[in-house]
Amino acid sequence: MAHAQSKTVELLAPKTTLTPCILDDDPEQLQALRALVSSMGYDAIPTADPEEALQLVRVGRCRMVLADMHMPGMDGYEFLDRALRSDPGVHVIVMTAEYTLESALEAIRRGATDFLPKPVDRIRLKRTLDEAAALYDQRRRVKALEEQLLRDLEFHGIVGKSPAMLEVFDFARKVARHYTNVLLIGPTGTGKELVARAIHQISPVSQQRLAVCNCSAMVDSLLESQLFGHMRGSFTGATDTRPGLFEYANGGTVFLDEVGETSLPMQAKLLRVIQNREIQRVGSPQVLQVNVRLIAATNRDLRAEVLAGRFREDLFYRLSSIQIRIPSLAERLEDIPLLVQFFLKKYNDAYGKNIAGLTRRAQTVLLQHGWAGNVRELENVISSASITAMGDFIDLGDLPEHLQRRGPRGGGEEQDWRPLSLEEVRKVHIQRVLDMCQGNRLRCAQILGIGRTSLYRYLKRDAAAASAPPPQHVYVGSGRATVGR
Ligand SMILES: Nc1ncnc2c1ncn2[C@@H]1O[C@H](COP(=O)(O)OP(=O)(O)OP(=O)(O)O)[C@@H](O)[C@H]1O
Ligand SMILES: [Mg+2]
Repeated sequence: MAHAQSKTVELLAPKTTLTPCILDDDPEQLQALRALVSSMGYDAIPTADPEEALQLVRVGRCRMVLADMHMPGMDGYEFLDRALRSDPGVHVIVMTAEYTLESALEAIRRGATDFLPKPVDRIRLKRTLDEAAALYDQRRRVKALEEQLLRDLEFHGIVGKSPAMLEVFDFARKVARHYTNVLLIGPTGTGKELVARAIHQISPVSQQRLAVCNCSAMVDSLLESQLFGHMRGSFTGATDTRPGLFEYANGGTVFLDEVGETSLPMQAKLLRVIQNREIQRVGSPQVLQVNVRLIAATNRDLRAEVLAGRFREDLFYRLSSIQIRIPSLAERLEDIPLLVQFFLKKYNDAYGKNIAGLTRRAQTVLLQHGWAGNVRELENVISSASITAMGDFIDLGDLPEHLQRRGPRGGGEEQDWRPLSLEEVRKVHIQRVLDMCQGNRLRCAQILGIGRTSLYRYLKRDAAAASAPPPQHVYVGSGRATVGR
């Protein structure tokens, strides 16, 4: 009867693609275990070589290993550590003839799925295998669902599932049909350009052109000719007559990025376009009518700019009648796993890699980081980690150094805290932001909220200070620092 029962159980073994690897240096044990595991419905790969078993794990052929504790060359603990380093999701079941409670606990603490005494108890082994197989199938199903979710939650190339982002998608969808001007506000790297493109794609003029202009990248005269066009001979170097972006995108959309960086005279010209839909090419008396939708974006607080006299109030009100605020990444940390998955797929494809995910400790670091550079910074982190990662998973060591060093949000910084002068804080902060922007000074100046020339001035001053000979003595006492001779 008992026999008949165990037969029924075996027939019910879960159908799974989990292929256990059996690792034992004793050929007899190896064959006996293989037969046992096979009678439980699992097709196993036997080997006496730990390196071969590690290779099977590394290439994803085996997601479970039954490993003997004592083997020549490598013991079960070392095997366990190395297998988990290659694939943190692998199930390793360690077996030993010298079972003690301490050694079992040590194996579990190191990440083993189970620790079985030899000779292996048939029922217990079957239960462990079935549980691991069920977990493996569950993980695969969750992964498939996550992929489906990613497809469902992608809004014209923008990924997000946080309530804040779903609201942005919803609002963008609604305004796209009806707007003439929209203002997108939000910190740098939050995806304002992506939202602008999405709005154009959903709008009734999606078949017409979208012209993108970064207002901060050009001096006024160049920006004017870029936007409004120019007549031949109207300035030195104007060798031909050219239409500007407003004419080019007539009937469609113009996206004015970094509109907060424009000068007051340029703002007056933009106001004229918004109010009258009129433009004039540089050097031409002729007034042209254009029919364009305008999307403007800024990472500045335009209201504060108005108060400071740097932005025209009338233009601000015209632009901001419909405003969409894109939240910073720190306000929607729940989007990070989805974004990571999205960028992993993107960079796996780009670099021909097959990275499955991040180790738990790497995930934790990402969730605790401050993300001053928002989604752009996260994308850069995943892109460079995808290049450096050697295994199937991105680990702590693949992340940029400043992320590795910093502990939980705030905690690490507090530990590093030293009493610095404001000048020193400025210097360190500029350098950190510059590192984060991978040396892109324009981007760095935007994040810092200062002009490019100010940034250059600071960098020049800091470089000069670094190359100056150090002061001969520095006396530090009672909180005051004095430079002596
Ligand atoms: N939700 C998102 N899903 C996918 N990719 C995103 C998302 N948000 C931003 N990105 C990516 O991050 C990068 C920065 O996005 P984008 O240029 O749209 O930001 P921005 O707000 O315009 O930044 P800036 O103010 O610096 O111009 C781009 O590579 C973009 O593809
Ligand atoms: Mg932008």
